[in-house]
Amino acid sequence: MYCVQEIAPAIVWVGGSDKRLERFENMFPLPKGIAYNSYLILDEQTALMDTVDSAITAQFLENVEHVLQGRALDYLVVNHMEPDHCANIEELLKRYPDLKIVGNKKTFQFMEQFYTFSKPENYYIVNEGDELSLGTRTLRFYLTPFVHWPEVMFTYETTDKILFSADAFGCFGSLSGNIFCDQTDFEGVFLEETRRYYANIVGKYGPQVQKVLSKLAQLEINMICPLHGPVWRENLSYILGKYNLWSSYQPEKQGVVLAYASMYGNTENVMNMLASKLSSKGVQDIRMYDVSKTHSSYIISDAWKFSHLIFGSPTYNMSLYHGMQALLHEMAALNLQSRKVSLVGNYTWANASIKEMTEIIGDMRKIEFIGEPLEIKSAMKQEQIPQLDQLVEDIYASISTSVSAAQPSLAKHNAM
Ligand code: FEO
Repeated sequence: MYCVQEIAPAIVWVGGSDKRLERFENMFPLPKGIAYNSYLILDEQTALMDTVDSAITAQFLENVEHVLQGRALDYLVVNHMEPDHCANIEELLKRYPDLKIVGNKKTFQFMEQFYTFSKPENYYIVNEGDELSLGTRTLRFYLTPFVHWPEVMFTYETTDKILFSADAFGCFGSLSGNIFCDQTDFEGVFLEETRRYYANIVGKYGPQVQKVLSKLAQLEINMICPLHGPVWRENLSYILGKYNLWSSYQPEKQGVVLAYASMYGNTENVMNMLASKLSSKGVQDIRMYDVSKTHSSYIISDAWKFSHLIFGSPTYNMSLYHGMQALLHEMAALNLQSRKVSLVGNYTWANASIKEMTEIIGDMRKIEFIGEPLEIKSAMKQEQIPQLDQLVEDIYASISTSVSAAQPSLAKHNAM
């Protein structure tokens, strides 16, 4: 049975959630599922903003059919040509053969790469700033390449000033009836998953996001409709502020994330000692992760949030323990930068972990190493306590003298 919600006069959310999917892109754990949003505008002409993933095709098609009430679908705007939003294009073409598919040149290139159909007669190619009248409403298109794919564009509805923002401003996690952020406990339920989504899916493209934010600053926006997660209609400066921080690689908070690999608990022991001593000095909200236990996307999300990172790893096969190697390579690939980093290494007969961690992290931009790397041989010994204490002092001094960026607050309801 259809399940839809009106988000503005004659603009209806026709998406759905998949609470069963284990991993997004078969990679990122989804403990709370994922939502796929699609929005249908009813005007003199009808226009659908993106489709959904194949997992919820049946629900989506029923939703669209119900809202159209026998009318034809005139336009399908493809803001993002990734299959989690495009699985139903061919089915819509079968149902509405005169459907005009709105996209840019790259959109149609990717469409024909992913799918076997080719319908150039249905393609409606748009460029930056082009407008499409639906009757009383007008859609304007903004190309936003690499947020996070090259074909991505945003669609701006000029009457109610609604921005359809593709993956931007979206999050992991399914919807549970409440479609607007202000109806949810956003910071309790969605903020962590919004940051994890940003860091891991979009994080590599900070400069491109900065460019888009400058473009959006010229627009009056009343509502942001992403393809995943809840819709923003209040306090838009909050999420725009978060995106500004994240895309400029500024930490949200002065604090410490410790990530370690440990085979027999000895490296873990050192990390526990460091965390405990930092806590005794007054550092709060410390995060510590075993890379073999926690998926890298969560660690990377916290690395995006906090200023100081401590990595600890044994040498393994004359190299770095695989889990740590994978985490650091992923962080480097995502372009994380402007962090303060300290290192702990462990070896029994051959020493490689500190060297390799230094090389990978040293190649990342604007990284400052804090303190001397602490290297233990198999297990921590009493005589190395002064060295460990010095590292704690150095990290604490660095945290104490750093200044946090100004934080956007949900408590303020700033108009755009
Ligand atoms: Fe939600 Fe980039 O696809």
